[in-house]
Amino acid sequence: MFLKSTFSPIFTAIPTRIKPPKHSRAVITDAAIQPSLQTVRQNASTDTAANPSSLLLVHKLPPTSAYIHLPFCRKRCHYCDFPIIALGSSSSSSTTTTNSDCDDPRILNYVETLCREMKATKLSSDPNPPLETVFFGGGTPSLVPPKLVSLVLDTLSSKFGLCANAEISMEMDPGTFDGVKMKRLLELGVNRVSLGVQAFQEELLKACGRAHGVKEIHEAVEIVKSCGVENWSVDLISSLPHQTPDMWEESLKLAIQIQPTHVSVYDLQVEQGTKFETLYTPGEFPLPSENQSAEFYKIASRMLRDAGYDHYEISSYCKKGYQCKHNLTYWKNKSFYGFGLGSASFVGGVRFSRPRRLKDYMCYVQNLEDGLLDCSEDSFTDYKDLAVDVVMLSLRTARGLDLKSFGEAFGGSLLLSICEVYGPYVESGHMTCSDEKGRNITSDEFSFLLSDEHKMNKVVGFLRLSDPDGFLLSNELISLAFGVISP
Ligand SMILES: C[S@@+](CC[C@H](N)C(=O)[O-])C[C@H]1O[C@@H](n2cnc3c(N)ncnc32)[C@H](O)[C@@H]1O
Repeated sequence: MFLKSTFSPIFTAIPTRIKPPKHSRAVITDAAIQPSLQTVRQNASTDTAANPSSLLLVHKLPPTSAYIHLPFCRKRCHYCDFPIIALGSSSSSSTTTTNSDCDDPRILNYVETLCREMKATKLSSDPNPPLETVFFGGGTPSLVPPKLVSLVLDTLSSKFGLCANAEISMEMDPGTFDGVKMKRLLELGVNRVSLGVQAFQEELLKACGRAHGVKEIHEAVEIVKSCGVENWSVDLISSLPHQTPDMWEESLKLAIQIQPTHVSVYDLQVEQGTKFETLYTPGEFPLPSENQSAEFYKIASRMLRDAGYDHYEISSYCKKGYQCKHNLTYWKNKSFYGFGLGSASFVGGVRFSRPRRLKDYMCYVQNLEDGLLDCSEDSFTDYKDLAVDVVMLSLRTARGLDLKSFGEAFGGSLLLSICEVYGPYVESGHMTCSDEKGRNITSDEFSFLLSDEHKMNKVVGFLRLSDPDGFLLSNELISLAFGVISP
C-alpha cells in the first residue's frame, strides 16, 4: 500500500521508517559507498556556501525554518494522536480577540515556557541566518490569543532574526477565529493559513469528533477571503469511516469551489491509543479496503489536477507558485528548529524530539536553561542513513530524486544499483526518468544506460514516481532503495 501521508513531518521528523524488504535485488557493501567519503572530505574542506545544495551538506547548514507547536484544542479528534492539550468547553480562550484575551493560564504558562526554550537554544552558527519560514502547528494554534502569538514572533525574531518576506503559516480551525482575530494575526506577520476542514459532511465531522460543523467551515473561508489572505490551504482526510466515494468527490468539489491556493489530502491513519483505534480495524468496514483507499487517492489526484492544482508532493497540491516553503524544507532534508511540546528539530544533522507530556517538557526546558542537556550538534553522519533519507524524502515529491547529485554524493556504483532496482518500475510506468534538460528517458534508453555506469552518471537527471500509480506504490518502491543501501 502507498506511503501513508505524513500530515506532520515534525513529529516523526522523518516519514515513517520503512522496513527493508526480505529479498533485495542488489546489495551494496560499505566498501561500495566509500567513494562518497572522498567527496565528503572534499566538500568539507571547501566553503559550504560554495555548494550549498550538496546532498552531503544541506542538512548541516544552519536552519532557516522553525516549527512552533501550539498544542491547545477544544477537544481531541477521534483520529488524533498528536501531543495536544484539550481545553474543554469551559475554556476562556475565545474565537474573538476582544474579550478574555490571554487570560487562560494554561496557554499563558505554555507560551512563556516556549519562549524560554527559544531563548535557551544554542544558535547553530554565528552569524545565524534569519528564518525564512515559520510554521505554527498544533493542536489548534488559532486558539492562542494574538497577543501571545506576537510574543512568540518577537522572541523568534530577536533570537534568530526573521526575513522580511518570511513565510509564516498557521494552522487554524473553523470556529476558532473571527475577522478581528484574523486581521490581527495578519498584522503580526502571519501570511499563510492552513484550514483544518477534513470533510464537508456533517456526519463525517461528527464521527471524527471535530469541534465544528460545515457551517463553521464556510464562515471560516469567508473570513479568510474577506481579510485578503492570499495564500491559504485546506486539509482533507480520505478513508474516513463510512465515507463513500460520492462523499469524497463532494468534499473535493467543494474544496475546489472555495478556491484555496493549496490543498493537503491525507489518507486516514488509525493511530494507536486513539478513539478510532478502539472502534475500527484498518481495511474493515466501516473503513474502506486498501483498494478503495487507493481509489480515493486516485480521485483526489484526478479532480485536483483537473482543477489546475499541481500535485507537487504525495499529499500536497497547489496552484502555481503556492508550494508550502516550510514543508519543502522537510522534503529537501534541510535542517530546521522545532520548539514546543513533542516537536522535533533537525539541527547539525541531529534529529531530536522533545517530550510529549507537558510536565516532562517543562523539565526539559528547565534543564536546557540550566545547561544540563548535551546539545552537541556535531554529529557523526551515517552516510547510509543519509542516502536512505534522501531517496525517501525526494521520492515523495513530484521533482523526484536528483540522480546527478545523488551520484556525486554517494558514488556512481550506488547510483547504478538504485537505478537497477528501479529499472522494472520505469518499464512498468510506475516511475519516470528524465535527463538533465527534463527530456523523458524511455524505458529502453534507461535499460541501455544500466549497462554503462559512466553513461548513466552523465545522462540521467531525475527519477520520480508517476502520479498516481507510482505514488500509490511509494511504500514498496522506497523500501527497495532501503534494501539496496542498507541491506
Ligand atoms: C497537525 S494536524 C492539524 C491540526 C489542526 N488544527 C486540525 O485538526 O485541523 C494536521 C492535519 O493532519 C491531518 N491528520 C491528523 N491526524 C490524522 C490521522 N490520524 N490520519 C490522517 N490525517 C490526520 C489533519 O488533516 C490535520 O488537519
